[in-house]
Amino acid sequence: MGNVKHQNQQGFLIAAFLLMLSPGALLANVSGSDYPMKRVTDIFDPQSLPAEMIMTPAMVVLWITLGIFVVVTTLLVFIVIRYRRKSSDDGSEPPQIYGSTNIELAWTVIPILITVVLILVTSRTIGEIQNKVFPENALHIRLVGHQWWWEIHYPQLGIITANEIHVPMSYRDPAKARPTRIDLQSADVIHSFWVPQLAGKTDLVPNRTNKTWIEPFEPGVYFGNCAEYCGTQHANMLLRVIVHTPEDFERWVAAQKAPIPAPVTSVELEGEKLFYSTSCINCHKVGDSVAQGIFGPDLSKLMLRQTIGAGVAPLDDKHLWAWVKDPQEVKVGCLMPNMQLLDAEVDSIVAYLKTLK
Ligand code: CUA
Repeated sequence: MGNVKHQNQQGFLIAAFLLMLSPGALLANVSGSDYPMKRVTDIFDPQSLPAEMIMTPAMVVLWITLGIFVVVTTLLVFIVIRYRRKSSDDGSEPPQIYGSTNIELAWTVIPILITVVLILVTSRTIGEIQNKVFPENALHIRLVGHQWWWEIHYPQLGIITANEIHVPMSYRDPAKARPTRIDLQSADVIHSFWVPQLAGKTDLVPNRTNKTWIEPFEPGVYFGNCAEYCGTQHANMLLRVIVHTPEDFERWVAAQKAPIPAPVTSVELEGEKLFYSTSCINCHKVGDSVAQGIFGPDLSKLMLRQTIGAGVAPLDDKHLWAWVKDPQEVKVGCLMPNMQLLDAEVDSIVAYLKTLK
C-alpha cells in the first residue's frame, strides 16, 4: 500500500517535471489524466479533512461493536455447546427465572452506557464537520444529481461541467488552506454523494439543499459513486474528483473559460450542422450557442473530461462513437435515446464533439 502510494508520488513528480518541459502535455493535466489514480475507494485510507475526522470515531465504533460481537458470539457458542440436548436428558423443563432485577438492570444499563459513549463520540465529530468555518477563498460548488449523472456548477467561476469535479488541493497550514464547500441538490430522485477518501456520504434530496465539504491535501484522481439506489443505472452513476495543484487548477479554470474553438474540417462542419438540426440541442448545452438544453450534461468542454456516461466508459474515439451511435448499448436504460443515426452521421457528429474543448 505504502509502496504504491510512493510510486504514485514519484510518478506525479515525474509527470509534473515532464509537464514543465512539454507544452503538449498541458491538456492532459487540465483533464487530470496525468495525476495518480486513487483507484481503490478505500474508507480506511482517508486523504481529505472530513474523511480523516470521521476515521477516529469510525474506528472507535468499529472496535466497540467488534468487542460486543466477540462477547455475544462466544457466549452463544458456549451456551449452545454446554447446554445442548444430551442422550441422558429426561425431557423435563429447567427452572424458569422471572423478575430478576439484577439481570434486567445489567442488560439495560450496560447497553445504555455503550450507546451514550457512541452518541458522544459521533456527535462531537458531526458537530465539528457541520460547523466548519470556511476561509474567504474557499471554492464553492453546486452539485446536482440526475438519473444517472452529476451536474457540476462553479457559481464563483461561471463554469458548468459534469461527472468530474475539479478542485484545488488544500494545505494543512491554515494560512494557505483552501477547502471546497459543496451544495447538494437533486433534479429527480434521491442520490447520494460518496467519495470515500474525501468525505462521508451526504444525500442529494429533491427540493432541498444539503451541504458537505472536502479538503484534500494530495493531487490525484479520487473515485466516488452514487450511494443511494436511484434506478436502473445507479451502479453506473460514477464520479471522479480531480484534485489539482493550485497552478493546474488555475489552468483548468482558464481552459474551461476559454472560447470553444470553431469547427474547421468539412466533416466537423457537417457534424456541427447535424448536431444543431437534430434533437441533441434539446438536452445538451454548448457554450452560448442555441444548444441550451439542461436535461443532459453540458458539452461545452466535453474533451477536457476523462470519461463519458458518468464514468461508464473512457472518453476516446471508439467509446464516443459507440455512445453517439446507441447510448442504450453502452448504458442500458439511460435517458439518452438511440437517435437512429447512420454510421456516416455518427462519424461527423463525433468529429464535431471532438472540437469541444
Ligand atoms: Cu444516483 Cu444512485
